[in-house]
Amino acid sequence: MLSIAVRPACFAAAVSLAAFAPPAVPQVDGGVTAPFVTTPVEVVERMLALAGTTSSDYVVDLGSGDGRIVIAAAKQFGAQGLGLELDAKLVAQSRESARAAGVAGRTEFRVQDVLRADFSRATVVTVYLLPWLMAQLSPIFLDGLKPGARIVTHAFVFPSWKPDRVEKVRLAVPHPSQGDESTIFMWVVPANARGQWQADSPAGTWRLRIDQNFQEVDVEGEGEGAKLDIKTTKLEGERLSFTGAARGAPVTFTGRVQGNRIAGEAKVGERTVPLVFAK
Ligand SMILES: C[S@@+](CC[C@H](N)C(=O)[O-])C[C@H]1O[C@@H](n2cnc3c(N)ncnc32)[C@H](O)[C@@H]1O
Repeated sequence: MLSIAVRPACFAAAVSLAAFAPPAVPQVDGGVTAPFVTTPVEVVERMLALAGTTSSDYVVDLGSGDGRIVIAAAKQFGAQGLGLELDAKLVAQSRESARAAGVAGRTEFRVQDVLRADFSRATVVTVYLLPWLMAQLSPIFLDGLKPGARIVTHAFVFPSWKPDRVEKVRLAVPHPSQGDESTIFMWVVPANARGQWQADSPAGTWRLRIDQNFQEVDVEGEGEGAKLDIKTTKLEGERLSFTGAARGAPVTFTGRVQGNRIAGEAKVGERTVPLVFAK
């Protein structure tokens, strides 16, 4: 996989774009951003499949190039899609390709800087942009996208947010930047579960203290007066679960983090305890 830590004065040097002569390099406020390099069609399909794209998704491709990801999302997966792209010629080409593919009604392409766009409606975001842009986008994704939204990238990762899934795709024709194999990455935007939570049940009070680093959570607490000995935790989107034991009985909790409440149920031994936690 390629990696670059600095804003590229020359993308070609960093990602061996020698085969792109000359690359179309768009500008933002006079600065160089990322050139137009396409994602191979088989990788596009795997990216959308890895995100679990369906007809109820709204797929946004950031830096949409010739529109291939948005068009594939609409044509092959039945989704709605939006492409944001700085280069007006590529946007015109994308609209034309969408018409030719019969998906103009489910797709939209705008000439817009991804760093200034509102794409908070997206349920799937696809990205093939340079690392310095990825670094600027990760807080936008975490603050702006709904928990459960999926982000899929081609080749590049966020500086400190670990991907939920990674997949390698063998390429039929070698790619000038990726060689014989592309790596794709998927993240699920986590809900904010951090904090101190409390819920009442007929048998007593439950308290949780949750620490969070992106999708990784650390849970401590007590249930009905007994310390929870937590063994496993998982946060995927708004779905929170943990397993452990209290007073020797197995405890499994599954619930959803929705703003200032976590609603779910705990199984304690043979009992099922409905719980609604508040902060
Ligand atoms: C590497 S290409 C990816 C094209 C397409 N998404 C794909 O995967 O085939 C990156 C594209 O992002 C566009 N781009 C770069 N910086 C951008 C920005 N700040 N806002 C919008 N588009 C940008 C470039 O013009 C280029 O077409």
